[in-house]
Amino acid sequence: MHFVRYSSPSKINLHLCVGGPDASGFHALRSWFVTTDLADELHCTVALAPESEIRFSCVDASIPSDASNLVVRAARCYLDATQSERFVIDFELTKRIPVGAGLGGGSGNAATTLVLLDRLLGPLPASSLNAMAASLGSDVPFFLRTPSAIATGRGEQLSPAPPPRVEAALLCFPPFAIPTPAAYRTLDRVRPTPAADTLDAFDVDAWSRLGAAELMSCLRNDLEIAAFALQPSLDDLRIALERRLDRGVRMTGSGSTLFALYDDFDEANAAAARVADEVTGVRVRAVRIGRASVSPIEAAG
Ligand code: C5P
Repeated sequence: MHFVRYSSPSKINLHLCVGGPDASGFHALRSWFVTTDLADELHCTVALAPESEIRFSCVDASIPSDASNLVVRAARCYLDATQSERFVIDFELTKRIPVGAGLGGGSGNAATTLVLLDRLLGPLPASSLNAMAASLGSDVPFFLRTPSAIATGRGEQLSPAPPPRVEAALLCFPPFAIPTPAAYRTLDRVRPTPAADTLDAFDVDAWSRLGAAELMSCLRNDLEIAAFALQPSLDDLRIALERRLDRGVRMTGSGSTLFALYDDFDEANAAAARVADEVTGVRVRAVRIGRASVSPIEAAG
């Protein structure tokens, strides 16, 4: 029997440019992804058995524990690829990353599952792991290539990027989620044709050396207009936060989480404490960005 415990970090999209939909309805992207140290914890026990079985539990009842769960789907995918039919695999997830928040929590969990099973039962070639990750969701491959990368295609084509000099972000979690498919559908309605230069490359090496204020002034997220059309109060919150924090505020992924950037973690932490006191109805916290990776916490057995 083997037991491992892994940290499964979240991500923010510092910059997210979205092109038009292809024939299958998916959108071409160009995005700068960085991890944050707001992380879930995934425990896994693998034991030899006459027949394979995948079990999953999480104290958060809003996380499905059936075959639709991304951890279960990733494990099934891995076992099918390796034709390993003799294992009982038990997962236990400690959920800290809000769901439907644009932080890639479920995608990170799927990638973490592939990484930890590959350590226990592999290794498979990196190309097989990447293909499995892409089949599980557009954001999953990034979590195999953390902590900082440029994603193109649907999000599955990745090139490494330097981590930003900017150390921290203040995350603000509104009390509602935004479903990703609805955000993309709404984008096609409110912006039928993207501008010709929407997916143009940007100079990530130069941007990674900027301070928080200069970097923020370069960043955009094309899904904001869609999320704000679905939830007009989100734009009101963004504007109110900009005033209170005296700096730019952007959204990550398809929302609903908003972020502001800080050169220094302590400064972000002090701002988070202030906002928690002053703004009702939202949760906030400071995180370190561009450093965390899918990684073992400790291993035994
Ligand atoms: O790949 P993932 O499961 O995260 O995507 C969720 C939904 O978001 C897709 O079904 C699609 O509607 C939309 N999407 C998109 N273009 C992308 C990524 C996601 O239209 N590049």
